[in-house]
Amino acid sequence: MVIKKNFFQTKINRVNLYSTKWTKYKKNILPLWVADMDYQTVPEITLELLEMFKHGSFGYTNPPPDMKKVISSYLNTVMHTKVKENNLFFLPNLGVGLNALVRTLSQSNDSVLTFSPSYYPFFDCVKNSKRKLLISKLIRGEEKFSFDFADIEKKLNKNTKIILLCNPHNPTGRLWTYDELMTIEKIAKKNNLVVVSDEIHCEILMSDSAKFTSFHTISKWARDNTVTLHSASKTYNLAALGFAFGFAHNAKLKNKILDETKGLFEYMSPYGFHATKIAFTRGENWKKHLLIHLQNNLKTLNKAFEKQNLFNYFIPESTYLLWLNCSKIKSPENYFLKKGLGLYNGSLFGSKSFMRLNFACTQNDIKEIIKRLKL
Ligand SMILES: Cc1ncc(COP(=O)(O)O)c(C=O)c1O
Repeated sequence: MVIKKNFFQTKINRVNLYSTKWTKYKKNILPLWVADMDYQTVPEITLELLEMFKHGSFGYTNPPPDMKKVISSYLNTVMHTKVKENNLFFLPNLGVGLNALVRTLSQSNDSVLTFSPSYYPFFDCVKNSKRKLLISKLIRGEEKFSFDFADIEKKLNKNTKIILLCNPHNPTGRLWTYDELMTIEKIAKKNNLVVVSDEIHCEILMSDSAKFTSFHTISKWARDNTVTLHSASKTYNLAALGFAFGFAHNAKLKNKILDETKGLFEYMSPYGFHATKIAFTRGENWKKHLLIHLQNNLKTLNKAFEKQNLFNYFIPESTYLLWLNCSKIKSPENYFLKKGLGLYNGSLFGSKSFMRLNFACTQNDIKEIIKRLKL
């Protein structure tokens, strides 16, 4: 289907539809916090879901018989590797996946290492599971955030079972390089760890030269010791439909996960299944337009933000999120709220002087951000 010129400029009113993003603040605040997008998804998805709803009858459904085949061939195009259908498993969302994997792949006295800042459910899934949370702080360098490898090695102990990796990284927007991932691999291998790699943002690239490297592809060891999580929900704006998936090439690992979560995720929404199927087979053109639109939003903001020196940030390689260093601002959340902008408070992510700004909005709202900041 042709994507019209103004497709990503159309403002959608979600206030009355239980929208997490649009019901948090009063009307005068422009919400720029939770990571979903203000756009309609692939038009074919909307049309076909409307057809499904027309039945008005909502009995039990089966997963599409070719669902795993569709996912497997899609992954070949975004992760450049074959994933056998048999190595895939379905989840209602990644949040559930993170919690389930921590519980499945470690025991109560074990510890799990992740990084700070992080998308806060990375901390929560460890705490929820009553495992010990080990945090290695990313280093904020001159040009980018990096791992502190010496610190990671120092933090690990004999009870550590898992590294939770976010690649691309939310909130910093880093695409970890092959060399960085190989160093993580060496540490994980030496310490006998499983790497859980959340790659939900991997298709949202902020330049044509940005290169995503999927952790499980970097070595034979990584292939055998990684559980990867992904979903169409971030790229195609389908979070409400409740469908995600994971895979592990190692049958032992995959079977352990299936065995220990047996009965928990037996039924999934047909709307999530069907929307994902359409996204993965007919969403390419929409995705191309989406990325152009997001990259333009980023360019416009970069240009405007150059005019101020109250906050600074590294240009994200991936994600539609800016991770703003607001250390010069006394109370950053209030500062932005007073300007009529609802950003995500970085404290939740482990960095209290930072704010996260979601720029997946219309160009008009990008102009509005700039206007409200008087830039
Ligand atoms: C890194 C990361 N993982 C997982 C999620 C949530 O995924 P889901 O909605 O499938 O639980 C998000 C949402 O922002 C995210 O940024």
